Amino acid sequence: MRCELSVNVDHVATLRQARGGVEPVPAEAARLSLGAGAAGITVHLREDRRHIQDHDVREIRVLCTEARAELNLEMALTEEMLGIACDLKPERVTLVPERRAELTTEGGLDLARYGDSVARAAARLSNAGITLSLFLDPEPTLAPMARAAGAAMVEIHTGAYSNGRDSAAAERELGRIELAAHAFESAGMTVHAGHGLTVRNVGALLKRYPFTELSIGHTIVSRSVEVGMAQAVREMLEAMRRL
Ligand code: PXP
Repeated sequence: MRCELSVNVDHVATLRQARGGVEPVPAEAARLSLGAGAAGITVHLREDRRHIQDHDVREIRVLCTEARAELNLEMALTEEMLGIACDLKPERVTLVPERRAELTTEGGLDLARYGDSVARAAARLSNAGITLSLFLDPEPTLAPMARAAGAAMVEIHTGAYSNGRDSAAAERELGRIELAAHAFESAGMTVHAGHGLTVRNVGALLKRYPFTELSIGHTIVSRSVEVGMAQAVREMLEAMRRL
């Protein structure tokens, strides 16, 4: 089964928010991404609304419905976000930890601490017909906890791999990711991955485990400045399928 791409368009909104204006438009970047072969769109509606705004999620919801593509809403586990999700009904919610001062999502969800709240959220999301995914560190011991909490999917945090200081560090991280991916799969969950992936490091990751989907944002939005969004998405898909 080939690996699909969900394009994260948060940083199109980051550019817009830098001037507090109306351009560029994340929904337009999403439309171009789907046209270039992405299977879905990811947005992270942060509590502080630093990039994606509520109206972006509504616009991208409509777009994904029209294109029969998957909307993956990344969010913190809060009452406000659960309400928004149950109202907008993305195909998938990915729960992520959120700290206001961080530049980007720094680590996976702490399941030992928040497992019970995740299980309650899972029940609410399931009633709304939404699939629950959890953003987790590459740690095999999290597999039974994630399953017990009601997750159908996990997204493995690849940040430590992507930011590995040298090839030995990257190789160590690939080993951890591979082990964790098999543990999540054995526990009955679909396994995705994301964070910091680029056309340079995605191939080695996909050689280690056949991920169903990757969530990739910053590098595609950055490259789009040089070649346009559609070409940036095509280049990523090419790198993912060049195995
Ligand atoms: N997955 C999750 C859960 C994330 O928080 C992010 C960053 O917003 C990504 C994937 C995409 O990471 P990047 O923008 O580095 O490709």
